Amino acid sequence: MPGYFSEELLDDIRGANPIHDVVSEYLSLKKSGRNYLGLCPFHAEKTPSFTVNTEKQIFHCFGCGDGGNVFGFIMRQQNLAFPEAVRYLAGRGGVAIPETLPPAQRERKQEKDRLREANDAAVDFYRRNRRAPAGRPAMKYLLDRRVTEETIKVFSLGFALPSWDGLVRALQAKGFKEEELQKAGLAVPRSGGGSVDRFRNRVLFPIADAQGGVVGFGGRILDKGEPKYLNSPETPLYHKSRVLYGFGQAREAIRKEGFGVAVEGYFDCLTAHQAELRNVVATSGTALTPGHLKLMQRFSERWTVVFDGDAAGIRAAKRSLELFIVEGLIARCVLLPGGEDPDTFIRDKGIEAFRKLLDGAESLMEFFIRQTVRDHPTTTIEGKVAAVREVVPLLAKVKGRVEQAEYISLAAHRLGVREEVLRSEVQAAASRERGEKPSPERSTAAMKPLRAEEVGLIRAMLASGSVAARMKKEVSLEDLEEENCRAVVRKIFSLLDEGVSSGIGERLRFDDEKLNRLVSSWLVESAGPEEKKTALQEAQDCLARIRKRRTDRESRLIQEKIAHAEREGDKEVLHKLLRIKHDLRLQAGR
Ligand code: CTP
Ligand code: MN
Repeated sequence: MPGYFSEELLDDIRGANPIHDVVSEYLSLKKSGRNYLGLCPFHAEKTPSFTVNTEKQIFHCFGCGDGGNVFGFIMRQQNLAFPEAVRYLAGRGGVAIPETLPPAQRERKQEKDRLREANDAAVDFYRRNRRAPAGRPAMKYLLDRRVTEETIKVFSLGFALPSWDGLVRALQAKGFKEEELQKAGLAVPRSGGGSVDRFRNRVLFPIADAQGGVVGFGGRILDKGEPKYLNSPETPLYHKSRVLYGFGQAREAIRKEGFGVAVEGYFDCLTAHQAELRNVVATSGTALTPGHLKLMQRFSERWTVVFDGDAAGIRAAKRSLELFIVEGLIARCVLLPGGEDPDTFIRDKGIEAFRKLLDGAESLMEFFIRQTVRDHPTTTIEGKVAAVREVVPLLAKVKGRVEQAEYISLAAHRLGVREEVLRSEVQAAASRERGEKPSPERSTAAMKPLRAEEVGLIRAMLASGSVAARMKKEVSLEDLEEENCRAVVRKIFSLLDEGVSSGIGERLRFDDEKLNRLVSSWLVESAGPEEKKTALQEAQDCLARIRKRRTDRESRLIQEKIAHAEREGDKEVLHKLLRIKHDLRLQAGR
C-alpha cells in the first residue's frame, strides 16, 4: 500500500525496532564476523544460514533465499500483510500512527464501516425473528435437524421471515438508506422502484471475516426448494473466495488442537461443533482458493480438509494440493464414504468415528501420489513417465527443503523411479519455475519430450548386452524419430561392432554432456516393483510400438501423396503409390 504510510513514519518505526532485537524474539542469533547467524525460521535447517546484518538492518537466508528488512521479517514470521506488519511494529516500538488516510481511502473505510453496521443490525433483526410466531417453521426445521438451542446461539443463527420487506423496513427505521442495504447485499431493488429483502423464508448463517465482523450471510431454504442455499453477493465486505464460515467459533480450538479442519457445508460445521469438535470451519461449497488459504494460515499451518469420496471429491482434493504447497501449509485430507457429508456421517456414525478419520488422515501429497499411481499404472514405462510428469511440478513447488526431500523420496519409491532421477527432474522444474532459463544441462526434462518407447528400447538394450545384440539385427536407425535416441543407439551399435558385449552402459560416453546425463538418468532408473517383463520382452514391445508408429507415419504420408496424385490425375504415380500402400499394410500386419 504505497503512500499509505509516510516514509518518515516507516523510518521511525524501523528505528524503534532494530532488526537484531526483533529477530531475537524468534530465534537465537550468534555473532559471526560483522553479521549475526541463526537457524532460519522459514525453512528447516541444521546449520545456520539465516543472516542478520545490523548495519543495513536486513536479514537474508542463504538456505532458502528469503530476505528483507524488519517489516518483511514480521510479515513472513507472523503471516501479516504489509500494513498489518507496520501496525504491529509501531505498537511494539511505541510509535503512534497518525490516522491520516488519503481521502479516497477514508471514504472507502467509512463506507465499509457503514456496511458493517448494517450487517450487525441485520444479524440482530434475524436473531429476534427466532421468537416471532412467523419464525416457528424455521425453528422447527432446525430442531428437526437436531440443531440445539445452544448451537443456534453460538452461531447467531437467525431467520428471514416470508415477508417481502421486513428487514428493509426495520433497518430503514434505524437510519440505513436503501442504497446502503443494497450495497451490503441485504436488499435488492424492486422492479417498480424501492427495495425488498434479499433473504426471505430462510435460516440464516451470519458469516464473519477474520476480525470477527459479520460481512455476509448464507441462507438455507426450509426443506425443498431452489436455490437450496442463497448467499450474499460480492460486496465491498463479502468476498466468497476469501471467507470461511465459522472462524469466530473455531479459532480458539484451532489454536488448542494445533490444526484446523475444513469441511464444505454450514451444517457440517455446525454438527461438528455441536459434537464438541470445534476446530472446524466451512468453505461454503466453493473450491478452496488462495484467499482461503491465506486466511487459514493466519490461524494454523496445519489443516485437514474433508472431501467427498466420489470422483469429483478426489479431483477437488488433487487440485487443492498445489494451493497448499504454494502457501506452504501442511495439509492432510480425509475422503468420506460416498454419499456422506460430515453432517450425516457424524450423526450416523458418531463423532468418535469422525475423529478417527481425522486421526488417520493422509498427507495430501501422499494421497496425490497414490492417486497418480492409480491413474497411470507404473508397470509400463509410459505410465511411469506420465506419473512422473504429474508429480514433478508439484514436488518442485514444495517450500521446505526437508519436506521436499522427503516427498521426493516417497514419490520415487511409489513410482518405482530412482530418487536421483526424480530429484534432478524436480530441480529442473524448480529452476524453470523461478524463471531461470531452461538449461539443457540441468535435466532431461528441459528437453523436448522423448518418445517413451524409444527410451524403453534403449533401456532394455542397456540392461542386457544380448538384447542389444539382438536388437541390432532388427532395429534400423530410421526407425527412431527422436534425435537423441538415435545418437545413443548409433553409439550402442558401434560399441557392439567393436566387440563390446556387456557393460555397454558404462562404456557409453559422448562428447555432448547432455547425452551423458540423459543416458545416466536411464541407467539409474530402477524397474518398478511390479515390472515382471524381461529386458527382451520389453525391447520387443517397444520395437513393435516404434514400428507401428513408423508405418502409421508413412501411411499418412502416402495417403497425402495419393490424394495429390488423384487430384492431378497422374495414373502412373497413383499406381505406384497404391502398391507402396499395399506393402505397408502387409508390413503392419506382420
Ligand atoms: N452451497 C451454496 N449454494 C448452493 C448449494 C450449496 O452456497 N446452491 C454451499 C453451502 O455453503 C452448503 C455447501 O455449499 O453448505 C455444501 O452444499 P451441499 O452439500 O449441497 O449442502 P449441505 O451443506 O449438505 O446442506 P444440507 O445438509 O442442508 O442439505
Ligand atoms: Mn448436508
